[in-house]
Amino acid sequence: MLVASNRGPVSYQVREDGSLHARRGGGGLVSGLSAIGSDAGSVWVCAALGDGDRAAVRRADGGLLPAEDTGGQRVRMLDIDAAVHAEAYNGIANSVLWFVHHMLYQTPLEPVFDAEFRRQWASYEAYNQAFAEALAEEAAEGAAVLIQDYHLALAPRMLRRLRPDLRIGHFSHTPWAPPDYFRLLPDDIAAELLTGILGADRAAFLTERWADAFRDCCHAVLGPGIPSGTRIGVHGLGADADFLRERAHREDVAERMAALREEIGPDRRAIVRVDRTELSKNIVRGLLAYRELLEDHPEWRERVVHVAFAYPSRQDLAVYRDYTAEVQRVADEINEHYGTPGWTPVVLHVKDDFARSLAAYRLADVALVNPIRDGMNLVAKEVPVVSDEGCALVLSREAGAYEELGADAFTVNPYDIGGTAEALHEALSLPAEERAARSKRLAAAATALPPARWFLDQLDALTGQPS
Ligand code: F6P
Repeated sequence: MLVASNRGPVSYQVREDGSLHARRGGGGLVSGLSAIGSDAGSVWVCAALGDGDRAAVRRADGGLLPAEDTGGQRVRMLDIDAAVHAEAYNGIANSVLWFVHHMLYQTPLEPVFDAEFRRQWASYEAYNQAFAEALAEEAAEGAAVLIQDYHLALAPRMLRRLRPDLRIGHFSHTPWAPPDYFRLLPDDIAAELLTGILGADRAAFLTERWADAFRDCCHAVLGPGIPSGTRIGVHGLGADADFLRERAHREDVAERMAALREEIGPDRRAIVRVDRTELSKNIVRGLLAYRELLEDHPEWRERVVHVAFAYPSRQDLAVYRDYTAEVQRVADEINEHYGTPGWTPVVLHVKDDFARSLAAYRLADVALVNPIRDGMNLVAKEVPVVSDEGCALVLSREAGAYEELGADAFTVNPYDIGGTAEALHEALSLPAEERAARSKRLAAAATALPPARWFLDQLDALTGQPS
C-alpha cells in the first residue's frame, strides 16, 4: 500500500551547526497509516519542501528516510527540482487550483491564464510525473495507491499508464467547484485535471456536495461523464477524540491555559478561532463581525475577548502575505478603537503552537469557524471535543463539516458580516446548560468517523477487502 502527498509526515530543519532536526507532523493520514502498522510494507511518497528536506534526501538511503525520523514508517521523499516544485506548488496548486475549488477569485484578484501560467502548468505536469514514476517504482504487483489532493490531480492517470496492474485511489481534501466556476479554467486544463483524477479506480471526496460537483464538472467538460472504470466515493473525516483528549490534558497545555487566562482577563467569555492564515478561512470578515458585535451589542464590551490564532502559511506568495498583514491590521484597529486599560478585545497570535491551540479549545465559550468554503474543517470538530465547559459553534454553511454539525451550530453565510455578528451574539447568550448539551451532541457527531476509520474505509473500498 502506498500513499502519495505533497507534504509528507516529516519535515527537516537545518540547525546552526549544520545538523538536521526532524519534525513529525500530525493529521488524518498520519494517524490513518499508523492504524495499519508500519510493518505492512507501506510506503509514503512525498516531496522535499525546503533546504532541510533536500539535505535529508541527499543523505537518505535510496530516497528512503531513516526510520528513527519517521516513527518506523517507510517514507520516500522526492527531491524535485526546486524551480519546478515552486511553479507547481505556488504557481498552480496554491494560486490557481486552491482559488478555483474555494471560489476565491474576486475583482481585483482575477485569474490570469497567460504564457507564464502555461510554463507553470508544464511544471505541474512534471511534478505529477515525478510522483507517478516514484510510485511505479515502489509499488509491488497489484498494490493499492492512495494519492492525495489537488497537488496531484494528474498523477492517477500518469501512474495508470505506467502500471495498469495497480489499484489507484485519489482523495480530494478540498471542496470541488461547481461547473460554472470550474470552467473559468482553460478548457484543455479543465479536461486534463478531470481525466487525470479519472485515471484512478476511485475518486473520493469529503462530502456528497463536493462529489456531486465533481460529477457535474465531468458531464459539463467531458460530455460522457464518469467512465465505467472509475467509482466516486465519499469519506467524511472526523476528529481523533482519544488523541485530542489525552494531548489536551498534558502539562504544556495547562501552562498555556494559565497564560491565556491572564490575557483574556477574569470573568470574560472567549470567542476562539484557530486557522492557517489564508483567504478561504475568512478571518478578516470574522474580525469585522466581532467589531460589529461590539458596536451593535455594547453590553459585550469588556465582557468578551476574541482569541484568534492565525498561523501564517504559503508566505512565498504575495496574496497570502497581504492577507496575513490585513488580519493583523484589522485586529490592531479593533484593539485601538475599543480597547480599555484592562481589556484587549482581540488576542491575536500568529506563531504556530499546537499546545496553545488546544489550550484555547479548552477555554472556548464560542468557536468561530466561518470559511468562504472548506473541504471539511477539523477545527469545527475538534473544539467541542476538547472544550472544558462545552462551547457553542458559529459555523459557515460552506464548510464540509456543516453537513454533520449544522443541526447544533449557529449557521452563517460567510459573506454576511452582520449575520455573523448576530450569530456570535446568540452563541454568547446561550444558557450554560443548553450550550453544554449542544456541545456534547457536536462532539458525538464530530468523532463518528475517526481518522483511522476514514483511512481504512478508503482502503477497503479500493481493494474490495476489509483491511
Ligand atoms: O485542505 C486541503 C489541504 O491539502 C490540507 O490537507 C492541508 O492542510 C492544506 O490543504 C495544505 O496546506 P499546505 O499548502 O501548507 O501544505
